[in-house]
Amino acid sequence: MEQIKTKSIVLGITGGIAAYKAAELARMLIKQDIVVQVAMTDAACHFITPLTLQALTGKPVLTSSWGESGNGMDHINLSRSANMIVIAPATADFIAKLAHGLADDLLSNMCLARNCSLLIAPAMNRQMWESAATQRNIKQLMADGVIVLGPDSGVQACGEEGLGRMLEPAQLAQAVVAQFQPKLLTGTRVMLTAGPTYEAIDAVRGITNRSSGKMGYAIAQAALELGAQVTLVSGPTVLLAPHGVELVQVNSAQEMFEAVKTHVAGTDIFIGVAAVADYRAAETSTQKIKKSTSNLTLVLVPNPDILAYVAALPKPPFCVGFAAETENLKTYATQKRTAKKLPLLAANLAQQAIGADDNELILFDDAGEHLLPRADKLTQARALMNHIIKLKGIT
Ligand code: C5P
Repeated sequence: MEQIKTKSIVLGITGGIAAYKAAELARMLIKQDIVVQVAMTDAACHFITPLTLQALTGKPVLTSSWGESGNGMDHINLSRSANMIVIAPATADFIAKLAHGLADDLLSNMCLARNCSLLIAPAMNRQMWESAATQRNIKQLMADGVIVLGPDSGVQACGEEGLGRMLEPAQLAQAVVAQFQPKLLTGTRVMLTAGPTYEAIDAVRGITNRSSGKMGYAIAQAALELGAQVTLVSGPTVLLAPHGVELVQVNSAQEMFEAVKTHVAGTDIFIGVAAVADYRAAETSTQKIKKSTSNLTLVLVPNPDILAYVAALPKPPFCVGFAAETENLKTYATQKRTAKKLPLLAANLAQQAIGADDNELILFDDAGEHLLPRADKLTQARALMNHIIKLKGIT
């Protein structure tokens, strides 16, 4: 997979309240080894100071075509050396300028003079977003090949609720990184299960486990980066799904099973990352069970094995399983791969992996085992997707 180490972007900040989030975005991109050069409009400097961005990126921030930060040719030089320009936030005004090819400040000059891709993250009041003019401009920009990320809907700074919120910095950073990956999985449908399941016992209690969903969400991100169409069937987690996935939220194993059955047709690759509860309560109480002095016996019945069901479909997708074990990792992993008839299974030690930000994986396939040494989960996810691509013979 192509490394993104040497990539550089121009992060353009325009004057909206979401400008403060651009600082976090810059930090996240730098963490991914992307070189970030910030350019700000005058209006943006009213919301966040160039000094903040300078401190975060270690580079002087460009603010003007005329002042000391510009050399008169910045609009050409910088947009030539950058791999991408990202405008976050992109105000309605700036979007209008872009759509009409106006170039009355350094940032709009750079956008017009660029020979790289342009990503914009709109952020504005919902009525400004819905206005005929903005919608016309956005349509025009998309027709011109500009990539529009978001906006999202939710509570806005003005107190109103609706479409117009900028995507979260983490989602924008993921989308930027994704742009740099070769699109080997364009047209491929990937479905994943992720996170724990929650099996209710009564109105307030249930059986669950400590799975955070981090590995499954990282794999969803890695698949998206490769251009796949991704459906993420997720148990309860606190994680933000990558922008662009089809997210299906469920609680129990049975709900997860139903969601998978509903969406599985046409899936090319199925990856069962969820820590599905093996059992659920035979009966659930709609009211809170009251305590007493006598023993309470819960009858548990087995849950359906979702991965085994998918792997046994008449024309199954390429199925990948995960095994989290506390002991005998290799023996149990091999047994599971055989029992569920999986071409590939990724195994890890539960005590090291669950809830952690990094882990060590061992991949088991027909050729034997392959160690993915301890690394953060996104790195592991990318390596796993690469392995799948190799096994499927995709070039
Ligand atoms: O729980 P077990 O170790 O058997 O899990 C192995 C694989 O099977 C995992 O990929 C998990 O997501 C999947 N699984 C499932 N449905 C279950 C149990 C496990 O899809 N009920």
